[in-house]
Amino acid sequence: MLRSIVQFKGVTRAYGPRLALDDVHLALEPGKLTFLVGPSGAGKTTLLKLINREIRPSKGEVWVDGMPAHSMKPSRVAQLRRRVGVVFQDYKLLPRLTAIENVAFGLQVGDLRISDGEAMDRALDALEAVGLGDRGSSFPHQLSGGQQQRVAVARAMVAQPRVLIADEPTGNLDLETAWQMMDLLQDIAAFGTTVLVATHNVEIVTRLQRRILTLVHGRLVRDQPAGGIGRMAWLASS
Ligand SMILES: Nc1ncnc2c1ncn2[C@@H]1O[C@H](COP(=O)(O)OP(=O)(O)OP(=O)(O)O)[C@@H](O)[C@H]1O
Ligand SMILES: [Mg+2]
Repeated sequence: MLRSIVQFKGVTRAYGPRLALDDVHLALEPGKLTFLVGPSGAGKTTLLKLINREIRPSKGEVWVDGMPAHSMKPSRVAQLRRRVGVVFQDYKLLPRLTAIENVAFGLQVGDLRISDGEAMDRALDALEAVGLGDRGSSFPHQLSGGQQQRVAVARAMVAQPRVLIADEPTGNLDLETAWQMMDLLQDIAAFGTTVLVATHNVEIVTRLQRRILTLVHGRLVRDQPAGGIGRMAWLASS
């Protein structure tokens, strides 16, 4: 069996008296795209934030690429974050930087040893990989929502992380652009990065037939394997 890249062992996370995650166990394998679904307030964003160590669990263990995110020293957090790319619903690009500068900036915050020249070269490669090689000098406001989200993906991927977490990455996109974004995220998984996507988009989740984790009130109530719906439909008809 492949080694898990992300592993949660009995993870509970409380905000004051409120349990946002309750005893979650899960393991994500390398190079797979998994959906994280559940009603608003179920704990999806909380689960994602534990992976890049934006927050720590109240109880339990979170392992990311062999590193203990639950217990590591603050001085090692940068090392963990280089292995986890993040994409948000609202892109979070810096408005005063061009597309290529946004991507290069992502690389240099993660690793101060990277020179400006190298950062720009790698940023251009990353922009080309998301189909925006010719828009590097555009500012975010000069790009469409879908293009801005591609820049955000380039920024998340430029350091070649082992894991990409995406919180509602298609939430602000129309359906066609959302599908293009999903194609891109699937390509990223096919090249070996573990991708975890929190989403409310039922159409995308149903059609793509990937593994689906369902959270309700902080509990992982369902873990449906990839192709699960299709296989069950086939069994029912045979
Ligand atoms: N910083 C915080 N302080 C207090 N409570 C919080 C905080 N962040 C989240 N919560 C609570 O934790 C629970 C889980 O929130 P979370 O944001 O993880 O849900 P979600 O599944 O991402 O919801 P949505 O689909 O609306 O984005 C909710 O009850 C929320 O109110
Ligand atoms: Mg959320």
